[in-house]
Amino acid sequence: EKGGYDTFMEKEIHDQPQAVADTLLGRTDATGRLILDELRIEPEELLNVRKIIVLACGTSAYAGMVAKYAIEHWCRIPVEVELSHEFRYRDPIIDPTTMIVSISQSGETMDTLMAVRYAKEQGARTVSICNTNGSTIPRESDAVLYTHAGPEIAVASTKAFLAQITAAYLLGLYLAQLNKQLFSEQIKDILADLADIPAKIQDILDRGDQIKQLARSMKDADSVLFLGRNVGYPVAMEGALKLKELAYIHAEGFAAGELKHGPIALIDDGQPVFVVMPSPMDRHSLHAKVVSNIQEVRARGARTMVVAERGDEAVSAYAEDVFEVPETQPMLMPLLTTVPLQIYALELSTAKGYDVDQPRNLAKSVTVE
Ligand code: F6R
Repeated sequence: EKGGYDTFMEKEIHDQPQAVADTLLGRTDATGRLILDELRIEPEELLNVRKIIVLACGTSAYAGMVAKYAIEHWCRIPVEVELSHEFRYRDPIIDPTTMIVSISQSGETMDTLMAVRYAKEQGARTVSICNTNGSTIPRESDAVLYTHAGPEIAVASTKAFLAQITAAYLLGLYLAQLNKQLFSEQIKDILADLADIPAKIQDILDRGDQIKQLARSMKDADSVLFLGRNVGYPVAMEGALKLKELAYIHAEGFAAGELKHGPIALIDDGQPVFVVMPSPMDRHSLHAKVVSNIQEVRARGARTMVVAERGDEAVSAYAEDVFEVPETQPMLMPLLTTVPLQIYALELSTAKGYDVDQPRNLAKSVTVE
């Protein structure tokens, strides 16, 4: 059942090419147009959406943050992302032009379920991105877009996360197809790049030993920081969460631009810092800014480990360790840059002798408040 791997988590990390491919499967017609009939919300109604609120917890909320960058960029619809448990206890502004997109692997997370119920009562349209057929959240939502990652057994989420991001991209592209914020050729190009992602994830998995070795050498680290920008920012937070959950090491993810506003004070001799590089093709030239961040933390003694696009020459001069991921368009990078961080947390936890599938104090679905 573990497919020859020692743990479910390792198996599920290796299932990721398939999880992404299966989530893309059957969602385009012969001409390459996206068809999401399963959404069951009339196009006219979707065209009336003025605001999207993504509701989720934990790793699923980081998938929601990636969705925000993509949907705002592609569809020009404002997107808020909120932790479900915070959302339901404030006084959120919702009306029938608000679309709620909940993201939940299990479909049973109590906080997210309650937040969706609350939003429904206020008149919002509710769409669920979910990995579990027939679970409560999709049942109670107006529509569902299933991720097809297959059952996720390990407590820490891996393949469901990549499948959630994939589904969120599809939703964004579908809305852009409807509201014509993207040309159909642009949508086709992005879909073609998405179709190439599974092989690129496989390429990363095939080179996993490099990151495993690094992880094993860091058994004694007591704190690791993660930096990213734009879509790399939620990836940094996800990397930090995986490390906390699995290796019980203090870890924090920051937006790299925030460093100088405080976190840089944490940097001293030997502090490990993981940097998720933006694509050299990023349209905001964030790449150069993050190279400067690497230099800044390095100058203060940090040990820098960098996840960068293959052929990114600019980083090698400044980083102790560079782990390369294949090229893709900037918006799609999280589907690749997340993978080395998962392997890193898995291997570090294993090196410390912990149970990666059942980390202490955690349950797979959190069905209580
Ligand atoms: C982290 C993790 C949790 C879940 C969170 C939401 O590895 O698994 O943070 O992502 O509890 O769970 P779902 O997606 O089932 O609502």
